[in-house]
Amino acid sequence: MKIKTDYLVIGSGIAGLMFALKAASYGKVTIITKAALDESNTKFAQGGIASVMYPPDYFEKHIEDTLRAGDGLNDEEVVRMVVTQAPERIKELIELGVEFDKKDNGQFELGREGGHSFHRILHHKDNTGQEIELKLIDRVRNHPDIEILENHFALDLITQHHLGYPVSYCQDNIVCFGAYAQDVKTGQIKTFLSKITYLATGGIGNIYQTTTNPSIATGDGIAMAYRAKAKITHMEFVQFHPTALYNPGERPAFLITEALRGFGAKLRNSKGELFMESYHPLGDLAPRDIVARAIDNEMKKHGVDFVFLDATHIPKAELKSHFPHIYEKCLSLGIDISKDMIPVVPAAHYSCGGVKVDHTGKTSIENLYAGGEVAATGLHGANRLASNSLLEAVVFAHNSALASKDLIKDINYQTEIPDWDDEGTRLLEEMVLISQEFKELQQIMTNYVGIVRSNLRLHRALKRLEILYHETEEIYERSTINQRICELRNAINVGYLITKMALRRKESRGLHYNVDYPYKLKENRFLS
Ligand code: FAD
Ligand code: SIN
Repeated sequence: MKIKTDYLVIGSGIAGLMFALKAASYGKVTIITKAALDESNTKFAQGGIASVMYPPDYFEKHIEDTLRAGDGLNDEEVVRMVVTQAPERIKELIELGVEFDKKDNGQFELGREGGHSFHRILHHKDNTGQEIELKLIDRVRNHPDIEILENHFALDLITQHHLGYPVSYCQDNIVCFGAYAQDVKTGQIKTFLSKITYLATGGIGNIYQTTTNPSIATGDGIAMAYRAKAKITHMEFVQFHPTALYNPGERPAFLITEALRGFGAKLRNSKGELFMESYHPLGDLAPRDIVARAIDNEMKKHGVDFVFLDATHIPKAELKSHFPHIYEKCLSLGIDISKDMIPVVPAAHYSCGGVKVDHTGKTSIENLYAGGEVAATGLHGANRLASNSLLEAVVFAHNSALASKDLIKDINYQTEIPDWDDEGTRLLEEMVLISQEFKELQQIMTNYVGIVRSNLRLHRALKRLEILYHETEEIYERSTINQRICELRNAINVGYLITKMALRRKESRGLHYNVDYPYKLKENRFLS
């Protein structure tokens, strides 16, 4: 079955929805998303969205904070562009119905998070992501030029490769003609032919044992783009959020927002001692990579599985009004955060690397754009500054829609694309193998490619990943298409890219820390 659309948007988090709303002014948009429309990392965002709003804050300071966190690998032009566009994009979100908390005097109540010099985080209580996601969904659902297909799992991007051209023929000029996707409910595989394809598939958290990401985050977009031969970069920079609630078995791990530390909460080790001041002058509000490593070190030093976040000195009424979601969640587990310290542990949270794009969101493949967490725009460098990713998604959705506006008139559909061929395959019966291999992948990545790395661990990971890769490919080749095996395949692919890029970086920088190279090289190397 072939479906033609001007814009094919893959994913329905903030990046996909915002791009869809903008692109719909220039053509017909089809959104495909692998689960329900609101299933996304976006929905889980707590802290908020960063933007300079009032003096004494100013653009240069937000730029400086972003560059400092990024540890020498940001693209400064991109940082400047994103930071200075922020107030305009925030205004648009508000026009679309998003509500941010205000003070009695009518000004926005701005939060502060790690690495930020000023209060500059616009937020909606402690569930900003849900507010944004639901308001955007409302707009998208009511737009006459946007079609929404939920439970549609994108399998692969379509390029000349699917016309039977050898890879060498099109290596320098790969063109994207759309994507194959499976209707998960019926099993039918559809061929989507598009003029522009917008990849907005989000993050990768589920390749690790503990993650703040919901189950949709399996790195599908990065793996699809990699298979299509797009440039992928900076995968070694996986951000671990320092403070997920320690509650073994809970998946995704519940986040305790950094804004709580911005509000005065302090980290304490298992002996009840404050420790962050001895790791960084900014103490509990140091950049995330430093806080996560400090916690990792304290846990290892004391042989324990978590540290504590202490908010007991903050008045109960303040905790309940500013962090109602966290207050209730902890209470449901018997932790009254106004009296009890919160057990916390770092968890895989965000991928700074991804599909390499330029300042318009264009990838190295013609007619393929990428935005949001799947993309590597140059904004974050080696470590993302808190609350810069929702911002990045809206800025790049805007830039990509504008850039594609004129392009779209000159692109024709490629109608010779064959439908998906699954001849000779049979129903996958060994689901238990898939779950087992997923667990193994998570173990490998957590134990060998986590917060602290070494050459020995990385080489070991690579060897184990190769075995998993071959075992999975064997099952994949002989089975009918099934979402779970495709996700596993994608996740292994992403694990491999992280490990390979980690091995190539012979230094420690930002989120990548290798005990065999505990120093930073003078020359910054942008590896891709
Ligand atoms: P997502 O919101 O993850 O959306 C991806 C979409 O793609 C989903 O709809 C998914 O179903 C779909 N998809 C994936 N694969 C496929 C496929 N194969 N086929 C079809 N569809 C597919 N950032 C901030 O700036 N501020 C914060 O306060 C903040 N807090 C956070 C708290 C938590 C707990 C988490 C997990 C993240 C937080 N982040 C925050 C990060 C931020 O939320 C994400 O980076 C951002 O929302 C990503 O948006 P996105 O649109 O790129 O991806
Ligand atoms: C948080 O609220 O701590 C998460 C913010 C982010 O990931 O940007």
